Amino acid sequence: MPPLDSRAFYERVAGVYDQSYAYPKGLGPRQALWLARLFAPCPVLDLGCGTGRMLGPLARAGFRPVGLDCSPSMLERAQRKTVAPLIQADARRGLPLLDASLNLIISLHATLIHFAGPGELEALLEETRRVLAPGGALVAELPHPATYPAEPVPGAWRQYQPGMLCRHAGAALEELRLEEQDGLSTLIRVIRLGDLKKLFTGWRRVEVHPGFGGGRFRPDRGEVMVVVAWV
Ligand SMILES: C[S@@+](CC[C@H](N)C(=O)[O-])C[C@H]1O[C@@H](n2cnc3c(N)ncnc32)[C@H](O)[C@@H]1O
Repeated sequence: MPPLDSRAFYERVAGVYDQSYAYPKGLGPRQALWLARLFAPCPVLDLGCGTGRMLGPLARAGFRPVGLDCSPSMLERAQRKTVAPLIQADARRGLPLLDASLNLIISLHATLIHFAGPGELEALLEETRRVLAPGGALVAELPHPATYPAEPVPGAWRQYQPGMLCRHAGAALEELRLEEQDGLSTLIRVIRLGDLKKLFTGWRRVEVHPGFGGGRFRPDRGEVMVVVAWV
């Protein structure tokens, strides 16, 4: 089966996402508290909110969350968990929000890797910059590049995470495949540390954190990179 577009992929995965692929329940509140230490209470866009795991914790931490996702089936599940406003939109076509209208946008659990087509991630970051008010920030949680296993044989499938395989699919691209979902796959963008400078050109300040636990980012360690970029 050829790789699916990210919307089609999540439409197919939505029914099992919470049981099989979502972060553990306790992580959302910890991530929301980490955000609340960095940002004053404000409206926050959860870009790629999925089944809405962050919307409740964000609200309890004092934020006013709005969820956006391209997958109606993921949003349907989010709707069962929250009273937060939800927007169904494909962010590759832009964000349906006014210029300088938000102080905070978050995009967690590797959502940005799905912007894998040529120029898609660059265009999305431009859009987030347009929507953020001066002084506002984007917080993006990305897989650490070291989590992609080495490729012993060109083009071979490798274990990415339990139940997930990946294989090289071109410059800065991997195909991600779910073993238990009839081999459903989608293309993802590999975002390396060295790419951040170029991706965030023109932003006022960019920090990389080693997850949400505190401490200094060490490029040679860590499972995730939390990029905080201010306009
Ligand atoms: C790995 S899930 C993460 C969900 C959530 N952020 C979390 O932390 O649990 C990625 C989400 O991004 C959404 N997504 C992928 N491409 C998108 C796009 N072009 N526009 C809007 N949402 C998108 C998917 O539908 C999916 O719900």
